[in-house]
Amino acid sequence: MAQYTKNPPLLEEELESQPLAQLDRWLGDAQAAGMMEPTAMTLATVDAQGRPSARIVLFKGVHDGALTFYTNYAGRKGRELADNPNVALVFWWDRLERQVRIEGIADKLPVEVSRRYFYTRPRESQIGALTSLQSAVVADRETLDRRYDDTVARLAGEDVPYPEQWGGYGVTPQSVEFWQGRSGRLHDRLCYRRAGDSWRIERLEP
Ligand SMILES: Cc1cc2nc3c(=O)[nH]c(=O)nc-3n(C[C@H](O)[C@H](O)[C@H](O)COP(=O)(O)O)c2cc1C
Repeated sequence: MAQYTKNPPLLEEELESQPLAQLDRWLGDAQAAGMMEPTAMTLATVDAQGRPSARIVLFKGVHDGALTFYTNYAGRKGRELADNPNVALVFWWDRLERQVRIEGIADKLPVEVSRRYFYTRPRESQIGALTSLQSAVVADRETLDRRYDDTVARLAGEDVPYPEQWGGYGVTPQSVEFWQGRSGRLHDRLCYRRAGDSWRIERLEP
């Protein structure tokens, strides 16, 4: 069983007043710790019947107070979010013995924001986004590769057209909990909850 001994106490008076500023600090620590994907977060959605599903996406910064990620709007998570915008996000940084849990509402980002981000990505990622029918069943690997190669050939020398079914979401948080491991299983849990225009910070039992 892992022992959590790395962290000094996480104290209320040392927290940022805004949870996204605190997240930024912890993300900086995770980046400095040399983790492979420090921005990876698990995204949980629910379908129209209330059944949950979860997968990892990459956090791509804050837009208008919302945590952003990019994906295919026509895939499974996109369809689930169209029915129910309530989501949960979880970061886990094992080298730091820290977790962040976020609950909130996901909205599509403005298309010009998504388009701008799309064209910052490498061309091969742009073509991948254009050609993938995310979450659909595909006959075999060859079908996928052939569709990709055909698109590369068709678009030779041209800009990749922006795929309308691809773009970002912004998750506006309602609560953000910062967890860090401590010895004796007496872990620190500090939770920000929206209280009108500001945030209430409460300590939770581990
Ligand atoms: C480290 C990692 C990062 C990922 N980042 C993304 C991402 O930013 N956007 C995305 O759509 N899928 C990403 N994926 C793939 C998703 O986990 C998932 O397979 C895909 O989005 C399809 O999910 P869905 O069928 O529920 O829509 C990532 C997977 C891993 C393991």
